[in-house]
Amino acid sequence: MKQLSNKHVLLCVTGGIAAYKAAEIIRLFKTSGSNVRVLMTSAAKEFITPLTMQALSGNQVHTDLLDTDAEAAMGHIELAKWSDIVLIAPCSANSIARLASGKGDDLMTAVCLAAECKIYFAPAMNQAMWSDSRTQNNHKKLLKNKFIPIGPNSGEQACGDEGYGRMSEPQEIVNNIASGFSEGLLAGKKILITAGPTREKIDPVRFISNRSSGKMGFSIAEAARDEGGLVSLISGPVSLETPNEIKRINVESADEMLSEVDKVINDFDLFISTAAVSDYKPEEYEVQKIKKEKNTDNLNLELITNKDILKHVSKDKGDLKVIGFAAETQNIIENAKRKLNEKNLDLIIANDVSDPSIGFDSDENEVYLITDEIEKKIDRVSKKKLSRSIIEFIANYL
Ligand code: PMT
Repeated sequence: MKQLSNKHVLLCVTGGIAAYKAAEIIRLFKTSGSNVRVLMTSAAKEFITPLTMQALSGNQVHTDLLDTDAEAAMGHIELAKWSDIVLIAPCSANSIARLASGKGDDLMTAVCLAAECKIYFAPAMNQAMWSDSRTQNNHKKLLKNKFIPIGPNSGEQACGDEGYGRMSEPQEIVNNIASGFSEGLLAGKKILITAGPTREKIDPVRFISNRSSGKMGFSIAEAARDEGGLVSLISGPVSLETPNEIKRINVESADEMLSEVDKVINDFDLFISTAAVSDYKPEEYEVQKIKKEKNTDNLNLELITNKDILKHVSKDKGDLKVIGFAAETQNIIENAKRKLNEKNLDLIIANDVSDPSIGFDSDENEVYLITDEIEKKIDRVSKKKLSRSIIEFIANYL
């Protein structure tokens, strides 16, 4: 990542089982051309040795505030001045509390008080510790100051629990920081994109789906990344490779897509829903394969509606910009405008999916960009080129 080349990164490691991931964080910064120094709290040294961190970073590890030799070599003020970026990863509940209180009684807290650069922190702790109201209050205090959060994620934890509190993956952390230095129309913006079809299971071998290939969503993701955005993709089943520097979460059904969107949406500035989400799902899932009955030519499937993800997201959207697609076969503009209003969107992108040479599974598309004030047609062009024009429009008008 060229944005991180020659940057001075101070990685502060605090005490927690995720400390071992700090080794991978150092490697990622080093391969991006950064100069890394490591600061360890005394608890961190119980989880991973300073020798490991020294070998990986190529620099002596900083541990003590009141050590005259260490202070003579590079004191806490010099260390703070040296840093272009401070990253605390993992950041324990205890460290969050101490930083929130404004203490400066160890090297990490003292450096954070003195640092004038951006300070990122990646919380890592048990889910109950994370959701405790005291941790949440301390976290809010940090957000009001100069601290920038990365994560935590939800998932399985070292202690066997499941939930929020898991440290973000090293690549995700480094991507987040790189985006803060990126250039482009969407520099530093966080963008969530859904793509591909959903599959609604009927029985273990059959499902309801559609012809979406994911090409439109994936190329918009690449165009947003190329303009400096930090992009996450939530994708239904497609056969496309994950583009570089983009985080991808795979889902099957509309319910799974909704749940993944819901988990992360508060972290984003922009939501683009290119996914062809199934409007309906079978009311019942048959655990055994449905047998062909001998004396009948018909099989009746009862369908119920899926929740509208886009509508759900835009209900209380605040500063979030929400963009939908409209897949239409007739009265394209009229139907798209109705969806723009009904779903409370900032922009809708309408395409004619009755034409087999554009829309679903094609490498090309032709669309109308429609807001409350603007209506603009983009003639047939490759999805890659179209995506660049869409991102340019979003950056300029929203
Ligand atoms: O994937 P490709 O092969 O490249 O094809 C691209 C595409 C044709 C799928 C894409 O250009 C497109 O039109 N995507 C939207 C498909 C769709 O579901 O359109 P819709 O008009 O039915 O829905 C309107 C909007 O609501 C869409 O943004 C959709 O993502 C969203 N929606 C719909 C239903 C639902 N339950 N939840 C939703 O969020």
